[in-house]
Amino acid sequence: MIVVIDFGSQYNQLIARRVRDFKVYCQIVDPGIDIETLRGLKPEGIILSGGPASIYDKNSPKAPAAIFHLGVPVLGICYGMQFMIHALGGDVRKAEKREYGFAELKIEKPGPLFDKLPEATSCWMSHGDSIVSLPDGFLPDAYTENTRFAAVSNPEKGFYGLQFHPEVEHTPKGKQILKNFLFNICGCRADWTMKTFAKDAIAEIKAAVGDKNVILGLSGGVDSSVTALLIHKAIGGQLTCIFVDNGLMRQDEGKRIKKLFGRHLKLNIRYVNAASAFLEKLAGVTDPEKKRKIIGRVFMDVFEAEAKKIKNVAFLAQGTLYPDIIESQSAFGGPTAIIKSHHNVGGLPKKMKLKLIEPLKFLFKDEVRKLGETLGLPDELVWRQPFPGPGLGIRVIGEITRKRLSLLRKVDAIIVEEIRAANYYRKLWQSFPVLLPVKSVGVMGDKRTYENIVALRAVTSSDAMTADWAKLPYDLLGRISNRVINEVRGVNRVVYDISSKPPGTIEWE
Ligand code: XMP
Repeated sequence: MIVVIDFGSQYNQLIARRVRDFKVYCQIVDPGIDIETLRGLKPEGIILSGGPASIYDKNSPKAPAAIFHLGVPVLGICYGMQFMIHALGGDVRKAEKREYGFAELKIEKPGPLFDKLPEATSCWMSHGDSIVSLPDGFLPDAYTENTRFAAVSNPEKGFYGLQFHPEVEHTPKGKQILKNFLFNICGCRADWTMKTFAKDAIAEIKAAVGDKNVILGLSGGVDSSVTALLIHKAIGGQLTCIFVDNGLMRQDEGKRIKKLFGRHLKLNIRYVNAASAFLEKLAGVTDPEKKRKIIGRVFMDVFEAEAKKIKNVAFLAQGTLYPDIIESQSAFGGPTAIIKSHHNVGGLPKKMKLKLIEPLKFLFKDEVRKLGETLGLPDELVWRQPFPGPGLGIRVIGEITRKRLSLLRKVDAIIVEEIRAANYYRKLWQSFPVLLPVKSVGVMGDKRTYENIVALRAVTSSDAMTADWAKLPYDLLGRISNRVINEVRGVNRVVYDISSKPPGTIEWE
């Protein structure tokens, strides 16, 4: 495996992604990691990431100097290279000219890192400091117009430094450089696949759990479904999945989950129909944040009551993903995903004295999907669009009633059907209807109507942090509108949301 030491660059996840794309496992760690823990990871190579600090800043992040005595190759990128050069006795100064953007890289000394590269190639720079003198044993390998030491190395020790960013698309030969580091310099083997991941994870879960029981809140989303399946493969009947039906699910969602996980995949499922408890507490509430809080609180109560009925439970499993972990551990403290807070069962582990199992915590979303496929999860679930924890509760704008929920469910089913039929389901991050709390006048069969308005929301996005409204074909929009108005009694108008995020959000509440 390769360890990336995170000095806070916005590109760090990208480095990990690139390495994993070459089927080499890679983990991002905090610079504060102690050397014994690092040694314990048995890295075959270390990548020092870029970062926004200057090595001379008072609080600039520093990794233990002992990493240079582990006997493993090190690749420093941007700030990471400056950290290495500084730590080994070289000199770094503020550059006369900040260099940002494309630069022509001229390779003077083609070594193993530049295998299969032309003499000159484009690279992406973003730095204010530059190296002015090299430590003993280092030689320059490449330069750009503004940067004398654009690439340096001490091949004897296996230390390499790049002032530019090989991990970004703007460095066309960047992938080749990383590949060279992994295979020519570190001697990694390309053998990390979801199959090997699953095998290792299953063994680890077995060893950790022993003869105790595990509970998991199954939502029907990709993350909790894959977590459930993986743990089930490891410990079978010792896992109990609790599916809380909050009455805010889509059409037939509960039935579908019971059938798939219970009957088909043979998992232990406890289906709790708690719709009344949720809807009673939500009666008359229109404020979105109040709705979220109530839904979160009732979920906790229901889940805890159900969990208590299961004997010998020592673990709570969760489908936490890598980006959540990286964001909360990042050297410069990225924002944590508050919107999801009610989803992880918060205080429960402490209250019930449960240990957490998070087998996906080192995976990215697309890897989780691949893992799901490897484990035999049906396509329909692997490629499910995200669905928020508070469900239709935040898509019925204004007061939530059974009647309004039922209306929205019918509209939702039509939209999913049409979007799938047009082959758009996977292309869209999310596509769903929102029921508005205003009515509009219409005419149907020569009669005046005064009915509900539904807004269609369809967005493209890669991570939900930003999103664009989807440019759906007019005939698809037309079909959806026609069917909704004709088939769902109580709706006489469909509008299309053409706002991006930001400044809009994906959900309306
Ligand atoms: P917004 O509306 O903030 O949504 O652009 C971003 C993503 O998060 C989902 N979302 C939620 N998920 N609990 C959740 O588990 C919530 O309260 C919640 N609010 C929004 C939303 O569906 C989108 O994918």
